Amino acid sequence: MAAKRIVAQVLLILMPALLRLSLAAVYKVGDSAGWTTIGNIDYKQWAATKTFQVGDVILFEYNAQLHNVMRVTHSMYRACNTSSPLATYTTGNDSIKITTKGHHFFFCGVPGHCQAGQKVDINVLRLPEIAPASAPSGSTLSPPPVPSVSVPVSFPSNALTLKASKGAKLGLAITIFQFLYQVSH
Ligand SMILES: *[C@@H]1O[C@H](CO)[C@@H](O)[C@H](O)[C@H]1NC(C)=O
Ligand SMILES: *[C@@H]1O[C@H](CO)[C@@H](O)[C@H](O)[C@H]1NC(C)=O
Repeated sequence: MAAKRIVAQVLLILMPALLRLSLAAVYKVGDSAGWTTIGNIDYKQWAATKTFQVGDVILFEYNAQLHNVMRVTHSMYRACNTSSPLATYTTGNDSIKITTKGHHFFFCGVPGHCQAGQKVDINVLRLPEIAPASAPSGSTLSPPPVPSVSVPVSFPSNALTLKASKGAKLGLAITIFQFLYQVSH
């Protein structure tokens, strides 16, 4: 029983890191169409179908001779005002890591493109995060005293692939919770 407990405790300690890892995702703006004015892509609709989180990477892929990416304030976004962007990206393959909650406004700074709809609002909701390390109720485990122990994690890499759906990742987390629950009873 002692060995099982140790395994369960190690897993509990790893849970926060595992959840953070497994929930980071890469979102390519516009999916296969990318970042463009062709085809009247509805970037608002594209963003509305995603649940962005801190740590996610937003990937803008485009022809660098025709487009660019500017991060701007809300008022500049509304007005398609390109005069003083907060940041400008021009490689044609720009990965932007989202590090804060709230709105992140981007548009193409080429004249007319923002007005034509080449603009996107990446909104990371300010919702409470999933409590990662709470043990199932009725558990006899005590909470880990030091949550920041670094232990090498060697889960199958395809279980943590960035492209897997959030649902699959949550499923993995739930499986681990169930395992913990069984071990502790
Ligand atoms: C764009 O923004 C700048 C500075 O924020 C401002 O001075 C300018 O008047 C704005 N232009 C338009 C067309 O709104
Ligand atoms: C863009 O960059 C990502 C990594 O950030 C890379 O995986 C991908 O192959 C690149 N795409 C192109 C078209 O260069």
